[in-house]
Amino acid sequence: MRILALESSCDESAAAVLDSARGLLAHAVFSQIELHRIYGGVVPELASRDHVQRLLPLLREVLRAAATAPGELDGVAYTAGPGLVGALLTGAALARSLAFAWGVPALGVHHLEGHLLAPLLEPEPPPFPHVALLASGGHTMLIEVQGIGAYRLLGQTRDDAAGEAFDKTAKLLGLPYPGGPELARIAEQGRAGAFVFPRPMLDRPGLEFSFSGLKTAVLHAVRDRVLDDTLRADVARGVQEAIVECLCVKAVRALDETDCEVLTVSGGVGANQQLRTTLTRALASRGARAYYPRPEFCTDNAAMIAVAGLARLAAGQHDDLAIGARAQWALDSLPPLISSEPLRYANS
Ligand code: KG4
Ligand code: ZN
Repeated sequence: MRILALESSCDESAAAVLDSARGLLAHAVFSQIELHRIYGGVVPELASRDHVQRLLPLLREVLRAAATAPGELDGVAYTAGPGLVGALLTGAALARSLAFAWGVPALGVHHLEGHLLAPLLEPEPPPFPHVALLASGGHTMLIEVQGIGAYRLLGQTRDDAAGEAFDKTAKLLGLPYPGGPELARIAEQGRAGAFVFPRPMLDRPGLEFSFSGLKTAVLHAVRDRVLDDTLRADVARGVQEAIVECLCVKAVRALDETDCEVLTVSGGVGANQQLRTTLTRALASRGARAYYPRPEFCTDNAAMIAVAGLARLAAGQHDDLAIGARAQWALDSLPPLISSEPLRYANS
């Protein structure tokens, strides 16, 4: 089985072709970062308009790169939510229409299920069951993953997401949008211990996070001071260490509570090198192991949507003819998946 997948939930337009026997044949992403940068964040209407222009060229590009004619496709998957509803509708309308014209089924995929399954794109995929740490711009969750479609939420953030905390504190430091990767870059020059920011919720049991206090702490730290490169780097290092420690401690606690030795890390913040190094070290000392998607599959992409879409389409799931998108969509409301055939996700 071979499918085309489209992603358009926020500010990345993406397309991918995935084959159940040969793995990922092609994928391409167009990031709208430059378009939104002058506004300091994503402008939903601009995002939707740009997806309309980008998606068709992207899907032509991946079909060409995958040497695949439309007649060779067995289905089309697209991100149906959660996300910006206008942006989602551009991908949904295109995917649903193409599937109708090509006479194949279409399936709306849950964006977070895509992130959760992104580690399956790697040559050494994680075994089930495992615990997933999903940290993106909109979500920070620990989830017990029994199998594809069998998700149990263990804990999540009470307020800001980890990526949001990176982005908001980066903004306070005058760094360009999106701040996460930029803050991580300058943190390398920061001095250890120059700033120690609070680690909320670490001193109490449970698997919840809270990151909204970091903004205020950073605001106090830089107030009445000259924001030069040294101060920026020191604060960035302190912020990154605080976020990384919260994520690591709770991830290890989640492994303890579920008696599991396998952790996956996905979502944009999963690309953070400090997080990877700290987690890998923490897990090695207890005989557990972490699996990461490569950085380009941590941030938004269509390859991960193809993984979730292919698994579900291969099991016979598909949508009706209506074009729909959901701004909000609970992960645990997804139908469980009884897989009918073994699937290959890594490149062959
Ligand atoms: O998964 P994603 O691409 O989009 C959402 O579904 O939200 O995640 C984007 C988030 C942004 O907040 C971005 O700043 C953050 O991931 N991010 C990073 C890094 N790369 C992306 N945060 C810290 N370090 C990074 N290297
Ligand atoms: Zn995402």
